[in-house]
Amino acid sequence: MTDLTVHLTQDDIVRSLRSDVLTGLTATPKTLPPKWFYDARGSELFEAITRLPEYYPTRAEREVLAAHADEIAELTGAHTLVELGSGSSEKTRLLLDALRRRETLREIVALDVSDSALEASVAVLRADYAPATVHGVVGDFTRHLALLPGGEPRMVAFLGGTIGNLVPAERAKFLSALRDDLETGEWLLLGTDLVKDPATLVAAYDDAAGVTAEFNRNVLRVLNRELDADFDVSAFEHVARWDAEEEWIEMRLRATRAMAVHVRGLDLTVPFEAGEELHTEVSAKFRRARVAAELAEAGFGLTRWWTDGEGRFGVSLARAVG
Ligand code: AVJ
Repeated sequence: MTDLTVHLTQDDIVRSLRSDVLTGLTATPKTLPPKWFYDARGSELFEAITRLPEYYPTRAEREVLAAHADEIAELTGAHTLVELGSGSSEKTRLLLDALRRRETLREIVALDVSDSALEASVAVLRADYAPATVHGVVGDFTRHLALLPGGEPRMVAFLGGTIGNLVPAERAKFLSALRDDLETGEWLLLGTDLVKDPATLVAAYDDAAGVTAEFNRNVLRVLNRELDADFDVSAFEHVARWDAEEEWIEMRLRATRAMAVHVRGLDLTVPFEAGEELHTEVSAKFRRARVAAELAEAGFGLTRWWTDGEGRFGVSLARAVG
């Protein structure tokens, strides 16, 4: 059992699930936030997605970090690495190893909504990066940034392209809150998937093996279990489409027949028409200029921009400016 700082209890999580589901399933169109994909099975399915031939972002980002981790360590001289999201990823370790080679690494902060995932990664990080101090913080990166520990200068790593799950207004709010929590001169390392041909993008979110379809439908299983709902999971088809105007991928679940779903835990009956689509995720794709503009708007200056050799994925090193 590891000591974690808990800003989010099991109770808070259940309360926000209830509120998100009530709001989302009574809205038009029906919507569920993507954060509810990630129970134990959803996290495993996501891991499987990262190994699919069609899902290039993980490999492309790893290529960038492998090539530039030493330069990142050199430029930042970070004493603390704060990771928003999974704390034990191979990609984080590329950064940690580089900071250790430079002999600046003193503290590691891993922030995650899942206490079980965090316990495991904190234990591994403590074993592998001693004598660095490892803080595990259970929290939501959109809500608990003001509470991040760690000595300066800190580098906050927000990798994987997860910022793309936020719509522009949410991104602006998140980036400004992050800037406000940092001192001038501290760092943000941000991973963003890039705009590219739609066929490549759609394939990454609609793989031939059907793993992403299972990942998408898994959110219904989460609702069945956590809120005593009775979704017939097999009656929903996976849909992934490229919205060229918004420059984002949308995932939806299409009801293949008319049905009434009971969410007993909320005392709610939800009617679906045949063909009706439940929106489950947006994954925004970026261009360099847009990343730079959104960072600047929030008070970050773009210090470096790297992509993989094929220009599929961008990594920005940005600095909090005064
Ligand atoms: C983990 C949010 C970066 O948007 O690409 C993968 C999640 N969804 N396949 C992404 C995801 C469908 C992923 N992020």
